[in-house]
Amino acid sequence: MTVTDSSDTRKSNLELIGRDEVNDHVEIYSLIGAEEANKRHAVEDNCKAEFTWDYTKGARPKLDKLYEKAKGAQWNGRTDLPWETEVDQERLAHEIYKEGGKGNMANPDLTGTSLEKWGEKEWVRFNIEQQNWTLSQFMHGEQGALMCTAKIVETVPWIDAKYYAATQVVDEARHVEVFSRYLQEKCSGHYQVNGHLSLLLDDIIRDERWDMTYLGMQVMVEGLALAAFSFMHQLTPEPLLKKLLRYVMADEARHVAFGVLSLSEVYEQLSAPEIRERQEFAYEAAVRMRDRMAGQEVWDRLGISPTEAAKLAAQDPQRGEFSTVLFSKIVPNCKKLGLLDAADGWLRTKFTEMGVIAFEDYVDTTLEMDQASDGSPVMRDDL
Ligand SMILES: [Fe+2]
Ligand SMILES: [Fe+2]
Repeated sequence: MTVTDSSDTRKSNLELIGRDEVNDHVEIYSLIGAEEANKRHAVEDNCKAEFTWDYTKGARPKLDKLYEKAKGAQWNGRTDLPWETEVDQERLAHEIYKEGGKGNMANPDLTGTSLEKWGEKEWVRFNIEQQNWTLSQFMHGEQGALMCTAKIVETVPWIDAKYYAATQVVDEARHVEVFSRYLQEKCSGHYQVNGHLSLLLDDIIRDERWDMTYLGMQVMVEGLALAAFSFMHQLTPEPLLKKLLRYVMADEARHVAFGVLSLSEVYEQLSAPEIRERQEFAYEAAVRMRDRMAGQEVWDRLGISPTEAAKLAAQDPQRGEFSTVLFSKIVPNCKKLGLLDAADGWLRTKFTEMGVIAFEDYVDTTLEMDQASDGSPVMRDDL
C-alpha cells in the first residue's frame, strides 16, 4: 500500500534544527560547545537491548564478509605508527601561512573586520588553533562512534551485525586512542566538543529506534568524517599524521559500508511515514555536521564574536564550497538508501537548499568496496 505524503506532517526547521532559517550564520556561530566541570557527560539511552537465538553465521553474507575482513585488518595504534617522529606544529603552521593558508577560510574579504589588521603572528596562531580544534573534533567524534557502535552490538537483532559491530568497537577505541595521543604529544592544546556535534551525538544516543544509530553515526557522521580525513590526508605534509589518517580511513570505509548495507535491508520494509522520519533525521544530522565545520570554539577562544565570525563567513564565498565537498559520501549513500526521493523528494529539496545535491551521483561506499573487492576501498598494501 502506498501511503501518500502530507506536507502538514512535516516538522518545521525550528522543530528539527532549533532555528527557522537554515543558513542563519549568527545563530550557527552563537552555539559554542561547553565542557562539564567534572569532565563527564551523561545522556539517556532509550534503546532496548536485544538478544537473538538465531546464531546462523553468514545469514547475511555481505555483513559476514565485512566481519571476516575486519578481523584480518586490525592494527595496533601503539606499535604500528611512528610515534618517534618529531613534529614542529609551529613551523608547519608558518608553512601553511606562507602558502596562503588561513585556517578554515578559503578566500575571505577581511574588510571592516578586526582580522584586517592581522599579521603573520596572528595567522600562524590561528592556523595552530585550527589544527588543535580540528583534531579535537575528530577525537570527540570517534568517542561518539565508540559509544554508538557498542550500542549497535546491543540493539541490532542479527548475529552477523552484532559480530561485525563488535570489531568496530575495537576500531573506534583505537581511533580515539591515536587522535588523543597525537593531540597530547604533538599539538599545543585541545578543544571541548563542538556545540553542534554534541547536539547530534546526544540525539543519536537518545533515540529509541535502533536503526537511527546507524543512520546518524555510520551514514552521516562517519560519512562526513571519511571525506574530512581524506581531505586532511591529502593536505598534510606531516608523515606521522598522514600515516595515522591512512590507517583510520581504511577502517572508516568499512564502517560506512556497514551502515549502508544494514539499513538497505531495514528501509525496504518501512512504511512511508517511517521513511519520512528517517529523512528528517538525515536532514537534521546533515545540518549539524555542516554547522560544526564553522569552528565556533576557535573564534570564541580568539575573542571574535559570533556576529563578526558570521560576517566573515558571509564575506568568504568559497568557504561554503569547501564545506559542501565534505558531503561527497553522505549524499550518494542517502540516495542508495532511497531517502533522497521518497515522500515527494523532500530530502532532495533540502539537500538542494544546502547546496550539496550535486554529489548524488558520486560513487557510494558499498560500490567502492565492490570495486576493491576486499571489504575496504583503501588497500592495506599501500598503507
Ligand atoms: Fe572511527
Ligand atoms: Fe568509524
